[in-house]
Amino acid sequence: NIWQQKWVIGNWKMNGQLHNNNNLVHKLRQLPAASNVCIGITPPTVYLLQVHNAVQIVLDNKIHVCAQDVSRFPDKGAYTGEVSAEMMRDVGVDIVLIGHSERSLYFNEKNDVQRLKIENVLNVGLLPLLCVGESLKEREDGREKEAVAYQLSVFKGLKTQNFAVAYEPVWAIGTGKVATKEQIADMHAFIYNEILSLCGNDANIRVLYGGSVNDTNAAEIFSVPHVDGALVGGASLKYDAFTAIIQAAQ
Ligand code: G3P
Repeated sequence: NIWQQKWVIGNWKMNGQLHNNNNLVHKLRQLPAASNVCIGITPPTVYLLQVHNAVQIVLDNKIHVCAQDVSRFPDKGAYTGEVSAEMMRDVGVDIVLIGHSERSLYFNEKNDVQRLKIENVLNVGLLPLLCVGESLKEREDGREKEAVAYQLSVFKGLKTQNFAVAYEPVWAIGTGKVATKEQIADMHAFIYNEILSLCGNDANIRVLYGGSVNDTNAAEIFSVPHVDGALVGGASLKYDAFTAIIQAAQ
């Protein structure tokens, strides 16, 4: 049951190449099974099928194939350049990241578009993983919870019990600056409470931390209350670092 596991999801962002992807995935497949960890890989869209084909069930430990984004359009049709949730499912995707801060930074994606994408993902039976997190300015102004609560409000009224969130403070992404244990504990507890009050007590919840997670800080981050795993950027591209993070989650 993934709702009781720690999740370690690698987000490759716009990195990867056929040859390197194969090497990395084949090595990851050889990891010994860890029944308490849910492992995911999030390659660029063009490599989803390759990663799906390379990933196989290793004992009882499945490596999940995740997508970085999805079209806001629900159906197939004349939307040049778009990839639908249905197509993602067709090539073996399980989980779709929604609202990564790089999507809002470079593509101006806001709650309304994220909501459409979440609905599309749920409608084809996949799981959205919503990324939230405050900017440095919002943290400095003491408005970090307000910012995160606004981002979480896209969950309101959804017909699902399953809520997966990655808390990624924007100032900690790719900067080497990790939020403190206190900041993480405080925000994760807040996110849990927000989801419970928006979506009811029988919600299944996972809240991952993201932002400069690496092999040396993962164990400490996983020891923080309400941290159910990590969304890992840069370190997920390196086999040794990513496997050390998976081990720290066990
Ligand atoms: O989605 C993962 C992420 O934004 C964190 O990136 O490179 O700081 O681990 P990184």
